[in-house]
Amino acid sequence: MRRLVSETRLDPAELVLPLFVREGVAAPVPIASMPGVVQHSLESLPQAVADAAAAGVGGVMLFGVPEVRDARGSGATDPDGILNVATRVAVEASAGRLVVQTDLCLDEFTDHGHCGVLDDRGRVDNDATLERYRAMALEQARAGSELLGLSGMMDGQVAAVRDALDDQGRTDVAILAYSAKYASAFYGPFRDAVESTLEGDRRSYQLDPGNRREGLREALIDIEEGADVVMVKPAGSYLDVLADVAAASEIPVWAYQVSGEYAMVEAAAAHGWIDRKRAVIESVRGIRRAGADAVLTYWAVELAGWIRNGDLA
Ligand code: PBG
Repeated sequence: MRRLVSETRLDPAELVLPLFVREGVAAPVPIASMPGVVQHSLESLPQAVADAAAAGVGGVMLFGVPEVRDARGSGATDPDGILNVATRVAVEASAGRLVVQTDLCLDEFTDHGHCGVLDDRGRVDNDATLERYRAMALEQARAGSELLGLSGMMDGQVAAVRDALDDQGRTDVAILAYSAKYASAFYGPFRDAVESTLEGDRRSYQLDPGNRREGLREALIDIEEGADVVMVKPAGSYLDVLADVAAASEIPVWAYQVSGEYAMVEAAAAHGWIDRKRAVIESVRGIRRAGADAVLTYWAVELAGWIRNGDLA
């Protein structure tokens, strides 16, 4: 009876697995603050993509961890940069079974760790960054990325990237806009995962956690600018924003269950303080219930296995 009247179903196709790929390592490197998650090597990446595809997961989102960083994030626009190489590897491994997506942001590639380039006073230069994003988008498209994840929170980034793609005839490449991305403490473990060099914070371009209307406004602007999917991030602490965006949007709405959300459950479970499996399922179900059409989650493959086995009790 409960199954028959359930309002929120889970489907592996509505899960996206974030994957980290590190340059210059021979074997996967564990991430201390994200137990069970690794930085992949180029060699271990194909199997991870194949496992996700076999589990029925809808897509993978790739993040690169380069060996060398500089002020303008040159590695992001280098066809031989780690993220672009990894994209080619993932596209081959996926063989069309899932959607290969890429993080389009400079923070992994800049030595100062910001999501954009800086002006001569050390402030993030929004419009100069858009030029970098345009170039980055074209390289990612050439590498075979099918969905570009614009996570940098620069104003006008969706319009700029859409224009750059269309100008080169790449109308086939879609845009996932991290529209309502909040300046959050829950990104902490991710910054370990990508070995972030950030000093200071991102509050001048990411949203203030107290602002609900602004999250909706950012999503509506991105839809106007040509986004194909809009996203709310983090997920668990922003379910009201997610519900607002889901109610207003005519395009798919996704949510990112971020590294800190993952780490909290894993840490509590490791202490025996929480039922890990039930907490994982409930956390993702809650995000779907609030209105997410799909969820980026580090548990994507494991959760997909439970769903397929009908093991969600
Ligand atoms: C920026 C980016 C971040 C995350 C995804 N893309 C970090 C940030 O804005 O600091 C965080 C994801 C997570 O915490 O799981 N490229």
